[in-house]
Amino acid sequence: MKIIITKDQTEGGKKAFEIFADGIKHGAKTLGLATGSTPITLYENMIASDLDCSALTSINLDEYVGLSFDNPQSYHYFMQKHLFDKKPFKHSYVPNGMADDIQAEVDRYNKLIAENPIDIQLLGIGRNGHIAFNEPGTSFDSLTHEVKLTQNTIEANSRFFDSIDEVPKSAICMGIKNIMASKKIVLMAFGEQKADAIKKMMEGPITEEVPASILQKHPDVTVICDQAAASKL
Ligand code: GLP
Repeated sequence: MKIIITKDQTEGGKKAFEIFADGIKHGAKTLGLATGSTPITLYENMIASDLDCSALTSINLDEYVGLSFDNPQSYHYFMQKHLFDKKPFKHSYVPNGMADDIQAEVDRYNKLIAENPIDIQLLGIGRNGHIAFNEPGTSFDSLTHEVKLTQNTIEANSRFFDSIDEVPKSAICMGIKNIMASKKIVLMAFGEQKADAIKKMMEGPITEEVPASILQKHPDVTVICDQAAASKL
């Protein structure tokens, strides 16, 4: 794993942008995108640039079950607001958490990923080492699936909701096997609260108890961290 340590999230967003822009220049056609506070500076850089995304496809990692597209806490809404409204892609896919048949939606999403192999996958990381919503204990062989969120994740994400009771209890999420199939992976992490997860991911044993630790086995991972997130390495 390659690591780039930046002064702060602003500089981290610039570095991530350089990697994505270079990948696109060299033929990347499908980007795996992520939500959360972490990727926002990357998306700001994309919007401010003259990067043309109109021929590209994006596939997002996950979506809450039960939030409509126009709910400001849904990942559909987040992506529209932070990227797609200003930088449209040819096709942008986010799981449909409002699907009547969640299993059919899961199957549709796996097919979509198989038909559009991801050239560069962007990841954040949860405090417990989760990637997307793949919580500790998720099989490394998992494909897109419905996940029950852990209390730890519900609490961490409750800051975006009016009350913790409003945080959905489950999500549709790309599996670890889907993520590992990406040609290139860029994982961003900022702040001291991510330091334990970064240490376990990079230096700990490869275990399903720390989903991100599987990335040690991927041939092309770049981790972009600020000094606080890298402080326990
Ligand atoms: C959520 C998302 C993850 C994200 C994580 C960290 O659980 N499903 O994709 O990486 O939160 O979020 P943040 O970037 O806000 O710290």
